[in-house]
Amino acid sequence: MAKVLIVDDDPITRAVLSKGIGNMGHETIQASNGLEAVQIASRESRIDIVLMDVVMPIMDGIEATRQIRSLEIPAVIMVLTSDDSNDTIRKAVHAGADDYLNKPVNQGQLSTRLDLALKASGFYRYRNKFASQMESLSDVSVKDGSSMERMVEKNESLLSDLLGTLNLVAKMRDNQTYEHTARVGWLSGLLAKHMGEPGDEVVAIGLAAPLHDLGKIGVPDSILLKPDKLTDREWEVMKEHTVYGWKLLNRFSSGVLKTAATIALSHHERWDGKGYPRGLKGDEIALEGRIVTVADCFDVIVTPRPYKKSRPISWGFDEIASLSGKQFCPKTVEAFLDMRQEIEPRYRANYEGKEEDTIEPERER
Ligand SMILES: [Fe+2]
Ligand SMILES: [Fe+2]
Repeated sequence: MAKVLIVDDDPITRAVLSKGIGNMGHETIQASNGLEAVQIASRESRIDIVLMDVVMPIMDGIEATRQIRSLEIPAVIMVLTSDDSNDTIRKAVHAGADDYLNKPVNQGQLSTRLDLALKASGFYRYRNKFASQMESLSDVSVKDGSSMERMVEKNESLLSDLLGTLNLVAKMRDNQTYEHTARVGWLSGLLAKHMGEPGDEVVAIGLAAPLHDLGKIGVPDSILLKPDKLTDREWEVMKEHTVYGWKLLNRFSSGVLKTAATIALSHHERWDGKGYPRGLKGDEIALEGRIVTVADCFDVIVTPRPYKKSRPISWGFDEIASLSGKQFCPKTVEAFLDMRQEIEPRYRANYEGKEEDTIEPERER
């Protein structure tokens, strides 16, 4: 049984939702505006799901979402929207909402979405625990000089443990495989090296590239795991994985994790400015991002996924070459083509003979 906080200024909507959710076997609490919701959330010992209206007197749903998020309680916040505006959804997601439901709420859909939200709330608890462990680690490093020294000594193993854990978190959330992220790391490092990046940078890019999609842990299950095509609005939320990844990784001082943050934010930008989240063009895009996007796309093209078959390796090279100056940075593509002799064997060994001639568009592009 979940505890659901229903926030809406309309008493009839609250009553209808409360009755429906009660019939599903969950407990409900009601609030008539954002401020009341924040007060309830800070005093209740447990709230699993918040259903949050947007337009309300005293405090709107966006601000209330932001304030509830800052309380760091492991509740899933679902925003109730009555308009079709991407802008509202984007604002809600930026404020910390996990999902949204269209008003008037369809009871059948509500039941499924609550089930998904409950699954996500378990995940939230795990994520909060993980975040607080990270917090206490960085506290030690700032406040205690001697611990700081010990940590510098142990920095290498700490960093590799942390990278391993972050990789695991990414994998738990997304159905991408460890092999994919590992190959993207290897290929990105190879390209960075061939492009003449200094040794430290090459290592950092190689270690950081596998975390490019870490931000998907912030995308709601109903979108991330949806088997059907995403709607335009769902796409907008999906694209936010770049910003989430950046937010998660940018809080660490380690150079590798700073690089990982840059990669997370920029790995869907396109050379021609048609990418996301910022629509940057050419050299405005961080080099790390320009490298990882080539490695990531090539890997996705030539290896099979649960939702698509793979293309032949030579087709993958042709495709990357044809998108030089459009999707991809020409210098990176040049390095990629130069390194064909080294890249091809690694893929041949694993995927030769498994090539298929049909392909569905990769979801993320
Ligand atoms: Fe991505
Ligand atoms: Fe990827």
